[in-house]
Amino acid sequence: MKIFLDSAEVEKIRRFAAIGMVDGITTNPTLILKSGRKQKEVVKEICKIVPGPVSVEGVQETAEGMVEDGEEFASWAKNVVVKIPMTEEGLKAVRILSKKKIKTNVTLVFSPSQALLVAKAGATFVSPFVGRLDDIGQDGMGLVRQILQIYRNYGFGTQVIVASVRSEKHVVQAAEAGAHIATVPPQVLESMFRHQLTDAGIKKFKEDWEASQR
Ligand code: E4P
Repeated sequence: MKIFLDSAEVEKIRRFAAIGMVDGITTNPTLILKSGRKQKEVVKEICKIVPGPVSVEGVQETAEGMVEDGEEFASWAKNVVVKIPMTEEGLKAVRILSKKKIKTNVTLVFSPSQALLVAKAGATFVSPFVGRLDDIGQDGMGLVRQILQIYRNYGFGTQVIVASVRSEKHVVQAAEAGAHIATVPPQVLESMFRHQLTDAGIKKFKEDWEASQR
């Protein structure tokens, strides 16, 4: 399973990219705001650090506006992927952008029927939001499993990005389900390296090594 970092914070991206853990990046307007930088400037910098897909999101609501934004984003770097909201206008824009060979990631997907339409529209990626579904008492990972089953049934090429990841458990469940990608916030990726028994084991081996040198 590929791991994307769900962040627009360059220092964090550099840190995890340096150890080969970042296959791509997803951003959204909230993450751009959190970075404290202008979208174009920060996206261009991220695209130089990470050669994999970098998703960039606009806020236009018409297909025409989304295509216009998408063409602009795609001109910033060759690895830019245009994030499109799951609406009728959005899927119209996906068709147009894919004819222009511009990659798309349909975002804010919360149901299997939405995901079926996304694949039929020819999107490169679909992003089901598991955490936001869990937050309202629904089964986010169940949705991922349904989407993967539907895509397998018909051989759709759209890749599933498990988004709105809240915990290491979500990442493991995404991998168990066979999702293509999980997009992971930096604090969740950090937690995946750690286990209390690893820390305790390192401490004990160090103490015993020191004792053996006396
Ligand atoms: C990524 O593509 C999504 O925008 C992101 O994972 C949403 O996460 P959130 O629900 O924690 O805001």
